[in-house]
Amino acid sequence: MKNENLNVPQHIAIILDGNGRWAKAKGMPRSYGHKVGADNLEDMCEIMDAHGVKYFTVYAFSTENWNRPSDEVSTLMGLLRTHMKSCIKRANKNNMRVRMIGDITRLDSDLQKSILDLEEATKDNTGLQYTIALNYGSRDELRRGITELAKEVAEGKVKPEDITEDMITSKLDTAGIPDPDLIIRTSGEQRLSNFLLWQAAYSEFYFTDVHWPDFKTDALEEAIENYSKRNRRFGAIKEE
Ligand code: FPP
Repeated sequence: MKNENLNVPQHIAIILDGNGRWAKAKGMPRSYGHKVGADNLEDMCEIMDAHGVKYFTVYAFSTENWNRPSDEVSTLMGLLRTHMKSCIKRANKNNMRVRMIGDITRLDSDLQKSILDLEEATKDNTGLQYTIALNYGSRDELRRGITELAKEVAEGKVKPEDITEDMITSKLDTAGIPDPDLIIRTSGEQRLSNFLLWQAAYSEFYFTDVHWPDFKTDALEEAIENYSKRNRRFGAIKEE
């Protein structure tokens, strides 16, 4: 990186957006954009690791994405299958741990199995902690977590007045993963779209017009530099 004195976020989460627009601008089908976007994701894991980022989380498939045309959903599921396979290779090579968040029970059973196998095979890896949000929606995650807590209350294990923020955090899919320091959204939109609502309470946000397939090392470094400057300002305010 050009500037070595940067404050690199421990956890970066990215809302991957703009595959379709990127492809359209090139006169190509949306599926091509998703393919190049998936390839970029594989490279980005190594780039994050090389920049000292410890946790990398991506919004790959939302609970709302099922509403897309069925051929597009099939393309995304096909890419996910391929991504799982290459993740195993890269995880072994790079000591990377891979986890999924979201309700994977709606995915095809072979896919669910390869996800569980991948999580199990990489659970002791101490390098980049890579998390993929699949059939993920933050409200759905909260609903599932609250349902679990409600069961514990009904069984008399927990008193309603004893429920703490930490207990809620521990019921979320992200339990054990620190909150994101920086959330990036590519391709110009400036909203969270039901991603990590609870976990984003103190996150910094960075929006860029770059479409996901074009988001490479330079774009990441720009985001980190921007974050680093903000943090220094925050540090100065705290010291006053
Ligand atoms: C947004 O592009 C991106 C997605 C719907 C999901 C991200 C998917 C990938 C990076 C490829 C697949 C990889 C995995 C692991 C499933 P968009 O279609 O919303 O773009 P647009 O807003 O320009 O139409």
